[in-house]
Amino acid sequence: MKGTFPIQQFAELQTPFYYYDLELLRHTLHTICTEAGRYDRFAVHYAVKANANPKVLAVIRESGLGADCVSGGEIQAALRAGFPADRIVFAGVGKADWEIKLGLDEEIFCFNVESIPELEVIDQLAAQRGKVAQVAFRINPNVGAHTHANITTGLAENKFGISMEDMDRVIDLAQSLRHVHFIGLHFHIGSQILEMGDFIALCHRINELQDKLEARGILMPHINVGGGLGIDYQDPNGHPVPDFRTYFATYDTHLRLRPGQTLHFELGRAVVGQCGSLISKVLYVKQGTNKQFAILDAGFTDLIRPALYQAHHEMENLSSEADAQVYDVVGPICESSDVFGKAVSLNAVHRGDLVALRSAGAYGEIMASGYNCRPLPVGYTSDELQVSIKNIK
Ligand code: LLP
Repeated sequence: MKGTFPIQQFAELQTPFYYYDLELLRHTLHTICTEAGRYDRFAVHYAVKANANPKVLAVIRESGLGADCVSGGEIQAALRAGFPADRIVFAGVGKADWEIKLGLDEEIFCFNVESIPELEVIDQLAAQRGKVAQVAFRINPNVGAHTHANITTGLAENKFGISMEDMDRVIDLAQSLRHVHFIGLHFHIGSQILEMGDFIALCHRINELQDKLEARGILMPHINVGGGLGIDYQDPNGHPVPDFRTYFATYDTHLRLRPGQTLHFELGRAVVGQCGSLISKVLYVKQGTNKQFAILDAGFTDLIRPALYQAHHEMENLSSEADAQVYDVVGPICESSDVFGKAVSLNAVHRGDLVALRSAGAYGEIMASGYNCRPLPVGYTSDELQVSIKNIK
């Protein structure tokens, strides 16, 4: 089945551009709030890194989610969109001084700290301002995730977080510093995870760590398990909304929260992934020796995921119902990695046809670059184009 798109309105717009189906986004957010709302101690933050388009952020903020930021720019974007500072968490292995100062001045909820030197700098900068920063430690749980090597983060060899061996030392240090207040532990094992077993392994590891800390009389009010829930890139129409019920139930079943603890999540892809498509125009159909190419006006500057992670995005020819043919779908960038898909079956393609690259709402527009002096793609929403899309089955 094809997705439903306002093709007439599309004809007026300069391609390539991103299109966000806000009806689907609102439906997804409603599902998240309903499913997380079954558990009174679950708090969900949106990982701004997935998509910081202001129109998308505004809808997410309306739903009441908090924000997970990884840079000063993301904190500013979240504040501009109206996320309350006391619902903002700030992670990142290399926080610059100005970014830490911004977080302190805005009095964000929590810094997810990734090293001892960072903890010391936060303490110093907070002291200069006469403030006390709330900190959680990102612990590297040495739990693998069944996902692409570039987006697994929870193994000991990754640059992220503090090792489990160092955890006690860091907590002791925090308790000796006067301008930081230790409030929790933070974890994130990777992205595009579809096997609940990976999250279960994380839960078991957190249970072990909490048992050890409890034996030392250390209890904390917050546990943050990061994000990582994947989406169905193969079948965006069949599964427009990820299975949040199973995801939250998995944590409820396997993680032993202590009395009074809140469990935080930082979901990015699962929130925005399916609501966005990259819409591109076919420039040329070129016959090769053994194959034919559909050459689009979008390239990896607009959507880098296929080139960087060999990611699959479903493609649809929005302008044709003709019998399908097989194409290598490529972009115009002067690099041989600028390929969206090989041997892709599309309704027969002609110059000027519009092609949708689906499931591009997360890590699409936000990762666009100006390489080859190309303009950045614009993002349009269904609200703006005043259409009612019914592509939720
Ligand atoms: N929390 C932390 C600490 C993270 O590092 C990330 C993602 C998230 C939350 C959100 O993860 P999500 O729920 O979206 O899986 N550009 C790559 C994905 C990079 C993810 C980086 N960290 C891609 O296009 O697949």
